[in-house]
Amino acid sequence: MGDVRVVSLPGDGIGPEVVAEARRLVDAVAPLDGVTVSWEEHLVGGCAIDATGGPLPDGVMEACAGADAVLLGAVGGPRWDTTDPDAPRPEQALLALRAGLGLFANLRPVRPFPALYDASPLRRERIEGTDLLVVRELTGGIYFGARGRREPEAFDTCVYSREEIRRVAERAFAAAAGRRAKVTSVDKANVLESSRLWREVVVEVAAGHPGIALDHMLVDNAAMQLVSRPADFDVIVTENMFGDILSDEAAMISGSIGLLPSASLGDAGPGLYEPVHGSAPDIAGRGVANPIATCLSAAMMLRHSLGAPAAAGRIESAVAQVLEAGHRTRDLGGALGTREVGDLLLAAATA
Ligand code: IPM
Ligand code: MG
Repeated sequence: MGDVRVVSLPGDGIGPEVVAEARRLVDAVAPLDGVTVSWEEHLVGGCAIDATGGPLPDGVMEACAGADAVLLGAVGGPRWDTTDPDAPRPEQALLALRAGLGLFANLRPVRPFPALYDASPLRRERIEGTDLLVVRELTGGIYFGARGRREPEAFDTCVYSREEIRRVAERAFAAAAGRRAKVTSVDKANVLESSRLWREVVVEVAAGHPGIALDHMLVDNAAMQLVSRPADFDVIVTENMFGDILSDEAAMISGSIGLLPSASLGDAGPGLYEPVHGSAPDIAGRGVANPIATCLSAAMMLRHSLGAPAAAGRIESAVAQVLEAGHRTRDLGGALGTREVGDLLLAAATA
């Protein structure tokens, strides 16, 4: 793709530490695949509230929209936690970016590394062979419905249109076609009307993909099946909040949430890539965070947005090699720091 432009949004907490390692890796491997990345960095989240009064400063949305991709660390922290509905929140930046860039499909792959089978709290025989993809709807549902306070009450609304369901379901079926050809749609259709529409539309979409098996699962049951037989899932497609919760749960199959990458994609325009984990304020600034989730997110970015699949493969193989060799950050029971793991990844990816 030649010269590409990436906006980096390190954000809060451990965000800057993990994004720094991912950037070093991208700068080292992208040129080996014929791509040169120029970076533009902006403040979003709590750090932006401190600097400018709001979580998404002027011009940042436009900068992202005009770039080839966006790499984000994490936003949020106790410093900005408030229950005041009128106070700015770091998370508003992320939600505004997802909505503003039209990133309706959030891809969260979960494939535990064999070297870490014993790092998961789940028994090895349960997780062996797990290779699943959560396709989370990202710009609708209860995250974006009408909300407010009518003292002494507060309300949030879950709304989905047919079109919002259709387009994310299409993404899930397309992904399944390149995998094990199985889609599990997760809803709460025994209770929620929005889930009944979800199910109806997913069935319609499935009719256009005769080679792909579809089953439906209620979200409470899905939460249980995810830890009892994770290897049976291929693609899970679900609405925004169910996907938020199930993807954190699925993270534990891989041993640590510090390992899980994600890609948020729309119809056109840049994708946004970010680790599934948050800003981890408890360990921020100490150089001990696991950079792997962000590095794997950068690999997804190289593959999906920057036309550099070989560079993506270098990062992914480097992660597998480094873990295979027994190198671990603290979340995985080791003692290595963020930079040390970054150095090891860099050496393995450019070897
Ligand atoms: C995630 C996060 C976000 C979400 C927060 C930070 C708003 O938990 O990306 O999973 O709920 O979507
Ligand atoms: Mg989440």
